[in-house]
Amino acid sequence: MGTQEGLRLVEKDEGGVDRAFRADVLDGLSQSQKAIPARWLYDDAGSQLFEDITQVPEYYPTRAETQILTEEGESFAKMIGPGMAVVEFGSGSSVKTPLLLSAIEPAAYVPLDIAGDFLRAAAADLAQKFPGLPVYPVEADFMRRVELPGEVADLPKLGFFPGSTIGNMVARTAVDLLRNMRETLGTGAQLLIGMDLIKDEAVLKAAYDDAGGVTAQFNCNLLRRINRELGGDIPVGSLHHEARWNDRFARIEMHLVADGDIAFAVDGQRFTMDRGETIHTENSHKFDRRSANTLLLAGGWEPRQRWLDGEERFSLILAEARPARTAP
Ligand code: AVI
Repeated sequence: MGTQEGLRLVEKDEGGVDRAFRADVLDGLSQSQKAIPARWLYDDAGSQLFEDITQVPEYYPTRAETQILTEEGESFAKMIGPGMAVVEFGSGSSVKTPLLLSAIEPAAYVPLDIAGDFLRAAAADLAQKFPGLPVYPVEADFMRRVELPGEVADLPKLGFFPGSTIGNMVARTAVDLLRNMRETLGTGAQLLIGMDLIKDEAVLKAAYDDAGGVTAQFNCNLLRRINRELGGDIPVGSLHHEARWNDRFARIEMHLVADGDIAFAVDGQRFTMDRGETIHTENSHKFDRRSANTLLLAGGWEPRQRWLDGEERFSLILAEARPARTAP
C-alpha cells in the first residue's frame, strides 16, 4: 500500500519543514491527552518499519488477508465477474494486488495515490506482471472524490481497499471516505475491502507489540522524526511503546508512555509529561460482522459477501453501491 502520509498534498515552509506536520505535532502535544495523527508515523524509516511489521510472526493481518486472496480466487471470480476496471485506493501491494487481478480477469487497473513516484513505480511493476492489462495510474488524494480516466468510463468498476487501513480511521472519517469512494466509482460499482476482526485481546495486543520490538521501533520512530524535523529534544529513551485494547471503541491504540516526569522542547515550545502520561499515536479499529456492515451501509455500500481466512482472524467484504432506496 502507499503510505498514509501519501494521502495529502505536502506544503513546506522556508526551512523545508512540512507545515501540517509541525501544526499537528504542536497542537497534539498541547492537548490534555497528547495525540498525534497516525499518518506521521510513515516517513521513509516508518514505512520500512511497517513493511517489517507485516513479516513479524505476531502480526497476522497481512498473512490472513493474503491467504483469503490466494484461496478464494474462484469465489471472487464468480461473485465479481470478468471485465472490471479495478480501482485500487493506494498504490497497491506487490503481493495482494496480483492475486486479485489473476483471479478475476479485469479489463483495466487504476491505482490511485497522491505519492506520485511511488505510484508510478508500483504501476510499472504491475504492468510488467500483467502485460496485456491496461494500467492507468492516477495521482490523486483518494480521501476525496477522484475523476477516473476516460478510458475506463464505460467499464464496470471494482474498488479495492485491502489491509484494513479503514480501521485506522475514526468512524466519521471512514464514512466520509466510503462515501467519496462511492462518488468516485459510481452507482452500481462494487468494493472489495479488508476489515480486521475483533478477537482475543492477547492475540491483538501481541500483534501490535511484537516480542522482537519492531512495532515499538515503528512507534518510537515518530519521536526521532519530531526531534530531527522539528528541532525537538524529546528524550526518546524515556518513553516506551504500549499497545492498549480499548473495548468501548473496539480498537487497539498505540501510545508512547513516559517512564518518568519529563520536559522537552519542540520547535521552541516547552512541553512536560508526568510519569505514566501518554502520547496517543494510532487507532486500529477491529470489526465484527454487524459493525463492519453498519459502517459500510453508512458509507453507501451494501454488503454482498464476506470471506474469512481459515482461522477467522480477518475479513474481505464485497459490497455494492446500490441505487438509494426509500426508507425503511
Ligand atoms: C496500516 N494499518 C492497517 C496497520 C494496522 O494494523 O492498523 C498499521 C499498524 N500499526 C501498527 N502495526 C500495524
